[in-house]
Amino acid sequence: MSRPAVRFYDEHPDLADLREEVIRGLSQRPKSIPPKFFYDARGSTLFDAICDQPEYYPTRTEMAILARHAAEIAAAIGPEAWLVELGCGASRKIRLLLEALRPHAWVGVDISRDFLRGAAQTLACEYPWLEVHAVCTDFSEHLHLPLVEAGGRRRVAFFPGSSIGNFDPPQAERFLRGVAEALGRGGALLIGVDLQKDPAVLDAAYNDAAGVTADFNRNLLVRIRDELGADVDPEAFAHRAFYDAWRGRVEMHLVSLRAQTVRLDGHRFPFQAGETLHTENSYKYTLDGFEHLARRAGYRSQRVWTDERGWFSVHLLQVVGGQ
Ligand code: AVJ
Repeated sequence: MSRPAVRFYDEHPDLADLREEVIRGLSQRPKSIPPKFFYDARGSTLFDAICDQPEYYPTRTEMAILARHAAEIAAAIGPEAWLVELGCGASRKIRLLLEALRPHAWVGVDISRDFLRGAAQTLACEYPWLEVHAVCTDFSEHLHLPLVEAGGRRRVAFFPGSSIGNFDPPQAERFLRGVAEALGRGGALLIGVDLQKDPAVLDAAYNDAAGVTADFNRNLLVRIRDELGADVDPEAFAHRAFYDAWRGRVEMHLVSLRAQTVRLDGHRFPFQAGETLHTENSYKYTLDGFEHLARRAGYRSQRVWTDERGWFSVHLLQVVGGQ
C-alpha cells in the first residue's frame, strides 16, 4: 500500500543557531540557554516520557479538557479549517479533535525534524481524508508559514501544552501578535494555558520521582557535547526546578556540582560550584491575566474551558481585525 503524501517544508533551523546561541548564553551572567534547544529527537522523546509521569498533570489535564469538550470546540471553530499546530511534537492532542473538527488540512510545525516527519506521516496514515503538511522551523522568533496557502480557508492555530509559558509575558504578547498576523482576518487560536496553583503541585510536576525531567534538562548538555563537540560532563550538573510564586513561573536550572570549565570552539566558560545555567521558564497564568494578555496581543476571547480543579485552561481566541 502506498503511503499518503506529506508535504514537508524545511526551513533548516540548524546547528549554527545552536552553536551561536549556546556561546551567547554561556557568556551571559547569569548563564542561560533558550528551552527550544531541548528538542532534538532524544529531547522530544524524553518530553513525551515526562507527559506520562504521574506528577506531570498538564498533559493529562489538557487532554481531558479537549476530549470532554471536543464537540463544543469543533462547533465554535467550524469544519474545513486550515489547522496549524505549533510545536506539534508527537501530535497526540490533535487526535482528540480531528474527528469532531474535520479540518481541511493539518499543518504541523516543529523544530524537531525527524520527530515531525514521523508524526506527520502517522497522522496522514490514520486520517486519509486529511491533507497533511509539516513545517520544520523555529517558530519562537517569527512564525512564517512557507508555501502553505490556506486557499481562502479559515486559519486556526492550535498551541497546546502551555508552551506559551516558555516566553516571558512581553515576549508572549509579541509572539501572539505575530501569530495573529500569520492567521489573518477571521483567524482563531486554540491555546492551552497552565494556571497558577499550589506550589507543591508545581514543584512536584517539574521534579518527577523517576528523574525524567532531570534527564530532559541535562539533555541540553548532552546535545552541546555530542553535536557541538563541547568538553562538558552532563553528570557534573544537577537538575533544579522550583516555582517562584511572585513571578508566577517555574524555573529550571542546571547546577554545577563543582568548579569546572566548559570548553567550546576555543571558548572557556568557567562555572563556580553551585553556579546555575538557567534553561527554562514556564509561566503560569490566572484566567484574567491570560485574557488581558490575549487582548493586548489583538484577540477577543470567545470561550474558555477548564478542568474541575481549575488547574489548566483551554482558550478559544478570535483574531480582531486583520488583513
Ligand atoms: C512543553 C514547555 C509546556 O513548560 O511544562 C516539561 C516543558 N519542562 N517539564 C513545560 C517542560 C519541564 C513544558 N512545555
